Amino acid sequence: MKIGIDKIGFYAPHLYVDMNNLAVARNIEPEKFTIGIGQEKMAIAPITQDPVTLAANAAVEILDETDKEKIDFVIFGTESGIDNSKSAGVYVHRLLGLNPRARTIELKQACYGATAAIQMAKGHIALNPESRVLVLASDIARYGLNTSGESTQGAGAVAMVMSADPKMMALEDQSSYLTDDVMDFWRPVYSDKAFVDGKFSNEQYILFFQKVWEEYKEKTGFGLADFEAICFHLPYTKMGMKALRTVLEQGTEEDQERLLANYKISTLYNRIVGNIYTGSLYLSLLSLLELKEDLEDGSRIGLFSYGSGAVGEFFTGIVQPNYRAHLHVDRHTKVFESRTEVTVPEYEAIFNKTLPVDGSTVELDIDSDPATICLSGMKDNMRLYINKMNRN
Ligand code: HMG
Repeated sequence: MKIGIDKIGFYAPHLYVDMNNLAVARNIEPEKFTIGIGQEKMAIAPITQDPVTLAANAAVEILDETDKEKIDFVIFGTESGIDNSKSAGVYVHRLLGLNPRARTIELKQACYGATAAIQMAKGHIALNPESRVLVLASDIARYGLNTSGESTQGAGAVAMVMSADPKMMALEDQSSYLTDDVMDFWRPVYSDKAFVDGKFSNEQYILFFQKVWEEYKEKTGFGLADFEAICFHLPYTKMGMKALRTVLEQGTEEDQERLLANYKISTLYNRIVGNIYTGSLYLSLLSLLELKEDLEDGSRIGLFSYGSGAVGEFFTGIVQPNYRAHLHVDRHTKVFESRTEVTVPEYEAIFNKTLPVDGSTVELDIDSDPATICLSGMKDNMRLYINKMNRN
C-alpha cells in the first residue's frame, strides 16, 4: 500500500521585512544576508498570529468535508508552542471543525518535529488504511533583535494531509536517522528566544547530513543518480547548499547540474519567508513541487530533516501521477504578492509586542490582519481564537 502526502497547504503571515533594509539598519553589507545567508525577505508574525493560527490558516485552505470527517489523528509539530500542557493541535481541531473522534497531540524535537509526525502518521495509516492524518508544522523563529541569528528568523506553517494512495507524494520505506546529544541550539522554557552556537550548529547540520546520507546509501544501494532533487531543512537557503556540496562529487556532471538546479528551485519560497523551523523542509518541498513545472511523475525526491539538539533523518518520496492538478500555485502566489512590507522600526515594534502574563484581558485588532484565523485576545490566561469564516 502506498502511504504519503495527499495534500499540502501553506501559510505565512502578511507582513515581511526586506533583508536589504535589515542589513543597512544593522550596519552590515546587504550581500551578507542576500548572498552569504541567502535570504531576501523575512516573514513577521503580527501579535494576532501565533503557531496555532498559522497552522490553522495553512490547513483551512486544503481540507474538504471528507478530510474533516476522515481525519482521526492530528499531529502538531512545533518548537514554539504556546502551552506546556495542552496541545496546540486541539485548538486547531476546533477551529477547523474536525470530527471529534480523533487523537490530537503535539510533538517536539526542534525542526525535526514534523518529520517525526510524518513517520508516526505513516505507521498509523499502515494499521488503519481508511484514516487520514493531519500533520501540522508551525513555528515562529525568534533569536532577538541585533543578534547574529536575527537574519535567520521567520514565521509560517505547512499543513499536510497524509493518507493511503496519496495524490502528491508516496513515501518510501527506507530511511536513515540519527540522534546525538549536542548543544547547538536550544530554548529553555523560561525564554521566548532561542540560544544558539551558530558555527557549531552549521557544522552539526552538515555532519548529520553526511552520516545519514552515507547510511542511506549503504542500506539501499542508491546514489545521487537516483534522485531528481534533494530537499533540505532550510534555516536559511545557503545552509542546504553547504551540505549538498559536500557530497556532490559522488555524482556525474549531469547529476551535479540537475541537483544544483533543482536545489535552487526548492529554496525559492524559503528565501522569501525565512526559517519556519519544523515546517522549513516541507516549505522547500512545496517550492519544488509548485515551481518546477516539468517535474515528472515518478521522480524520486530526497528529504533531509534536521532538528537541533539533535536528530537528523534522510528519507525519500516518489512524486505521484497528475500531482500538479492538486497544487494551489495561484493561491500561494497571491499569499506572497499580497504581503505588506514593514520598515525595520515597525518590525522591531512588532517583535517587542507581548501578550499579558498576569491574567489580564486584552482584545486584539483582528481587522488589521487579513488572515482567516486569528488570535483575538486573552482572558484569564487563556488565548482566544477566531475563525472569521464561521466566527468559531
Ligand atoms: P554570522 O556568523 O553572522 O555569519 O551568522 P558569517 O560570518 O558566518 O557569514 C555568513 C555567510 O555570509 C558566510 O558565508 C560569509 O562568507 C558570507 P559562508 O562562508 O558560510 O559560505 N558573507 C558574505 N557574502 C557575500 N557578501 C558579503 C558577505 N559577508 C559575509 N559582503 C549564522 C551566520 C547562520 C551562524 C547565524 O545567522 C546563526 O547563528 N543563525 C541561527 C542558527 C542556524 O540557522 N544554524 C543553522 C544550522 S542548525 C539548524 O538548521 C536548526 C535550526 O533550524 C533550529 C532547529 O532545529 O530548531 C536553526
